[in-house]
Amino acid sequence: MTSAQRNGKEESGFRRVSLMPAVVVVGAQWGDEAKGKVVDCLAQDADMVVRYGGGSNAGHTVRFDGHEFKLHLVPSGIFRPQVTNIIASGVVVDPQVLVEEIRSLQAEGVDIGNLRVSARAHVVMPYHRLLDALEEKQRGSAQIGTTCRGIGPAYADKAARKGIRMEDLRQPERFATVLRRALEEKSRLLHNVYDAECPTFEHIWREYEEYAEVLRPLITDTDPLVYTAVKGGQRVVFEGAQGTLLDLDHGTYPYVTSSHPVAGGACVGTGIGPTHIDAVVGVAKAYTTRVGSGAFPTEQPNDIGNYLRERGREYGTTTGRPRRCGWLDAVVLRYSAQVNGLTAFAMTLLDVLSGMDTVQICRAYRLPDGEIIEQFPSDSAVLEQCEPVYEQLPGWKEEIAEVRSWDELPEGARNYVQKVEELTGVPVAMVSVGPLRTQTFWRHGISSDAPVQSLQRLAHGG
Ligand code: IMP
Repeated sequence: MTSAQRNGKEESGFRRVSLMPAVVVVGAQWGDEAKGKVVDCLAQDADMVVRYGGGSNAGHTVRFDGHEFKLHLVPSGIFRPQVTNIIASGVVVDPQVLVEEIRSLQAEGVDIGNLRVSARAHVVMPYHRLLDALEEKQRGSAQIGTTCRGIGPAYADKAARKGIRMEDLRQPERFATVLRRALEEKSRLLHNVYDAECPTFEHIWREYEEYAEVLRPLITDTDPLVYTAVKGGQRVVFEGAQGTLLDLDHGTYPYVTSSHPVAGGACVGTGIGPTHIDAVVGVAKAYTTRVGSGAFPTEQPNDIGNYLRERGREYGTTTGRPRRCGWLDAVVLRYSAQVNGLTAFAMTLLDVLSGMDTVQICRAYRLPDGEIIEQFPSDSAVLEQCEPVYEQLPGWKEEIAEVRSWDELPEGARNYVQKVEELTGVPVAMVSVGPLRTQTFWRHGISSDAPVQSLQRLAHGG
């Protein structure tokens, strides 16, 4: 490759999109797939980690050297000194949560000098949190089961073009103007529709000025930073939040979040074009979980579900809610491969399945009239009626938390992973057998020292 090509130009003088080691890490199910751990592992080989969507509804757990960190907004690359960490334009930022997170990271000796927050990112305000809870209450039995972090109302204001952005927060006078304007509407809405009190201007102003003081040095136009990194051939990891089936357009609407967790969200949320991304890793648990309401065909509200919940510590990082648990759903994973253009899976929590006589994977759905479908339905009401068609496989009794290579895995576990590859047509490139960095091994020629670059090679069939 000539230097002109490396710099993104053909010798003809036209811009050329070269192979960029940019990888999107996306939740392949309903969130909580342990993306934080996968991003942390990739971050060892990355120059930049970019969180592209969602807000403090996310909870990414990273464990190493006896520490456990639960991140809601800060990208999971923060523990690697060489990594620039970006909270990009598509994220809705609750400054209270972000400032708390920064302070607790600093208290643990983590340097946040390499953290930047997009000036375009929208700000979650106290009335968003209030409205989230009140709207949920009003929905009654049709509750979504939101995290009550103000995510839906903040994205609604953004789409209605009346949101407050980090750029506004950065400038005190401008913030005062937009806050006054917002409160005129929100206090009437809260009072007249919900019979609730809105926090006063003075109250919010004082609180948010304190946050602004901490955040001001971090707020910048991050779009050019990300663009320059990908264009310059740096290794960039785009960190998704939530999961594919919680996507506003492609998920199980209306039981979804208000952002775009899918891989395409990485482009919209960070301001780069799709030609800059070539590898997309779908993180999938070895089984399925869901928090909140909505259809879940393979759910096991029985001893099997309880076994998975207790062994997998399936309680929400953000809300502490017990997660609904069930068998792995290959219809979901195939849909996820389709929507995200997955080039690999990272399979997490495989260790949780140890000890079972048999394990099951859903390969298709049966509709009430007996028709078998392999495509994920677009309508949640149809999904509610779908019965899983399972493949039953022998389980394995051995604990596998100490396994560090494919060959050491019991035969049952290897067959299980290979069945997932067969049912989805996507290689399982990483297997995780516990929460620690070290409880991980790579397959399909992925180098554990340079996973970002080798994931890119795998995406290109190399
Ligand atoms: P919201 O994002 O708080 O509005 O919640 C909407 C739906 O998405 C609810 O079912 C939540 O339980 C779910 N949800 C939001 N964030 C996460 C997450 O990080 N993991 C799993 N579920 C989530």
